[in-house]
Amino acid sequence: MWFRPPSALSRLPRMVRGEPGSHHTGGSISIVGLRKDFDDVTAVDGIDIDIKAGEFFTLLGPSGCGKTTTLRMLAGFEQPTAGQIFIDDVDVAQTPAHKRPVNTVFQSYALFPHLDVEHNVAYGLRWRKDLDKRVKESQVAKALELVQLSGYGKRRPHQLSGGQQQRVALARALVLEPAVLLLDEPLGALDAKLRHSLRAELTGLQREIGITFVFVTHDQEEALEMSNRLVVMDGGRIMQLGTPEEVYREPLTEFVADFLGVANLLDVECDPGGGLTRTVHFGEFTLEARAPSGHDAGPGRAVIRPECVEVTEAGLPGANRLPGMVDRTVFLGSTTQVMVRLPQGAVVQSLVTNTSGNEAFAAGQPVTVCLPAEALRLLAASSDQHVAYAEVG
Ligand SMILES: Nc1ncnc2c1ncn2[C@@H]1O[C@H](COP(=O)(O)OP(=O)(O)O)[C@@H](O)[C@H]1O
Ligand SMILES: [Mg+2]
Repeated sequence: MWFRPPSALSRLPRMVRGEPGSHHTGGSISIVGLRKDFDDVTAVDGIDIDIKAGEFFTLLGPSGCGKTTTLRMLAGFEQPTAGQIFIDDVDVAQTPAHKRPVNTVFQSYALFPHLDVEHNVAYGLRWRKDLDKRVKESQVAKALELVQLSGYGKRRPHQLSGGQQQRVALARALVLEPAVLLLDEPLGALDAKLRHSLRAELTGLQREIGITFVFVTHDQEEALEMSNRLVVMDGGRIMQLGTPEEVYREPLTEFVADFLGVANLLDVECDPGGGLTRTVHFGEFTLEARAPSGHDAGPGRAVIRPECVEVTEAGLPGANRLPGMVDRTVFLGSTTQVMVRLPQGAVVQSLVTNTSGNEAFAAGQPVTVCLPAEALRLLAASSDQHVAYAEVG
């Protein structure tokens, strides 16, 4: 059952297929109430995730939030304390790691230094005793072609760059044609520039071969750029699940807002009411803010991303506008960061795109700040974090 080549593979330089009849698309994953305790540490605290076949799905969160442990349970290297994992609707609790239609790429690559590239990749076929040498060789060659390393077969790992070593690790994982590829911070050991170019390469490869990728990272940019959908984890729990746009634009909690980039947070007082848009008071000013998952009347926090904060000339009246004073500006090349002090003393950050015509703001200049209602969002109280996820999920 290792061979579940997706139909998309037929468009590629053909990798050798498994037994006839086993050619079907697969790679859906269902994680139900998954939990892992190590002695007194709860690494994964009851998570539910459904991943679609062919999806690029990311587990994003700070170090120690339980990403690797989750991945290791999917791979079969770690037994769950509770909960279930279904791969293509099959409960894999009793399936040993090497019999799952899953393969893993580790951050460290884990290549054998004394073996050349071909033998490192062939190691991925070690369980396939049924394949003869020639078939294995052609499979290795095709996997190397897939990661653009044809011609590097006789090199040893130390004769390759970091990015090339990473691709050997990928080829070794792909040579078995798994339905699901698990990747644990695979770009983490590379320098920034290489990491950037490999992001696009990796997503390109995934779209091309069409198998499910479960990708682990603590880098929010990586997660936003590469994923079809992602979960933001903290303390072994899921804080939010959605598309990159959803979790970035519609964070439900301060943790998610903060983890996914720069977030302006305002302390507000929310009026009683219901519906998508709520009236809030920020000091003496009245604003409209979105609260898609509801919000209790009383104190709360609202968030707005810097690129949504508009800074214009002083004295402009209108909805969701506040007077302010430019505190300082930071030129960043394509954008300028404008820090504006509001009457209550809070400072909001605005990100202004530098076009040829626009005028620079100067420190001390009075301005009007607009916080558009559709971009200003009320957050769930931190004690409701898990509830907030449950409502949306
Ligand atoms: N084998 C283990 N024994 C004890 N604690 C562990 C073990 N593996 C992970 N942990 C703990 O579980 C938590 C989650 O770890 P991990 O899944 O590696 O997080 P991440 O990959 O998100 O950084 C951490 O507190 C970590 O110290
Ligand atoms: Mg980890």
